[in-house]
Amino acid sequence: MTTYSLLILPGDGIGPEVMAEVRKVIGWFEQNRGLSFDVSEDLVGGAAYDAHGVPLADATMAKAQQVDAVLLGAVGGPKYDNLDFSVKPERGLLRLRKEMDLFANLRPAQCFDALADFSSLKREVVAGLDILIVRELTSGVYFGEPRGIHDDGNNPENEGGRVGINTQRYTSGEIRRVARAAFELARKRGNRVCSMEKANVMESGILWREEVQWVHDNEYPDVELSHMYADNGAMQLVRNPRQFDVIVTDNLFGDLLSDAAAMLTGSLGMLPSASLGAPMANGRPKAMYEPVHGSAPDIAGQGKANPIACILSFAMALRYSYDLGAEADLLEKAVEKVLAEGVRTADLMGPQGGTPVSTAEMGDHVVKALSAL
Ligand code: NAI
Ligand code: MG
Repeated sequence: MTTYSLLILPGDGIGPEVMAEVRKVIGWFEQNRGLSFDVSEDLVGGAAYDAHGVPLADATMAKAQQVDAVLLGAVGGPKYDNLDFSVKPERGLLRLRKEMDLFANLRPAQCFDALADFSSLKREVVAGLDILIVRELTSGVYFGEPRGIHDDGNNPENEGGRVGINTQRYTSGEIRRVARAAFELARKRGNRVCSMEKANVMESGILWREEVQWVHDNEYPDVELSHMYADNGAMQLVRNPRQFDVIVTDNLFGDLLSDAAAMLTGSLGMLPSASLGAPMANGRPKAMYEPVHGSAPDIAGQGKANPIACILSFAMALRYSYDLGAEADLLEKAVEKVLAEGVRTADLMGPQGGTPVSTAEMGDHVVKALSAL
């Protein structure tokens, strides 16, 4: 029997609270689906700093490199705000991303019917929405050289006398590997990829378009590929988001487009994410899964946090790290069922009000729905 390894890093604030609910879900799959998970748990962020004086111990880093998937809660909090930059909680997260070389950031935007009225767009535009944005995460304008703020000499035409510089730089190899990730993901979903850049005004965009097309033609001719200028992509995302399946784009455009797409579907407490790296020996990518939200110190310790973002992050692990697509679908359907029944944590209460359930109650409802499906 296959044993699926998972390293759980609950972190700080509401991280441990939402992770406890994922534990229940894992337990359900073990007891009812005969799956075997090898789950280990360790510290990250402020919790790791308190114990070891660093936001990620070397032993934890080594463990993360060995497992099929890492599931992280959230890091940070006011207690750690004045720490030296080098040991701040988010440095733990950054170290994981960097040393695992997680170059593809996955941000799904999925609209559960029961929450369609939460969207800032009309119900008929977002109902049933299920798209996945793949953002290149390790290169592009956030890392390109040269960069900096320079003195512009005594240039009389430059009031203020300074120049700010960043460089958008992509190698063909960097583009090809994130394109491959997007095509692989598309094969597990709707089999369509839309690549976004600005090839009309940027040479790096021309290279992006050519390399994505090359990967398609040579390795994934079965997947439908289209190209779109990113500014048009932004318009299309709010005009008719359901036209998309997988969107692949660079670090900067992906930062903007994924945040915009996320808000098509409502609450921060609902949004999962994944970051993928190169394929491992088993053919599946190195991977870390985490809710988009932070440690929410304003509600930590009160049982108010919505665990669904973390539960859906685990659903992504089922699909992309363990190749358990049917189980991932089942878990997403359980979440949908619970929402359809009107079960809501406080962050999902509409203006009509009602009585919210606690973090633990929401987890129990999801497990109950799994059994009922
Ligand atoms: P945040 O995401 O923690 O919270 C923003 C707002 O959303 C808060 O009002 C919070 O109560 C609410 N919220 C967030 N997740 C929720 C959930 N699951 N259920 C219900 N309500 C939820 O962002 P904020 O306040 O900017 O940052 C708080 C701390 O988290 C900071 O220390 C920040 O550095 C850290 N952070 C960590 C991240 C990570 O670990 N990936 C990402 C973002 C922030
Ligand atoms: Mg952003």
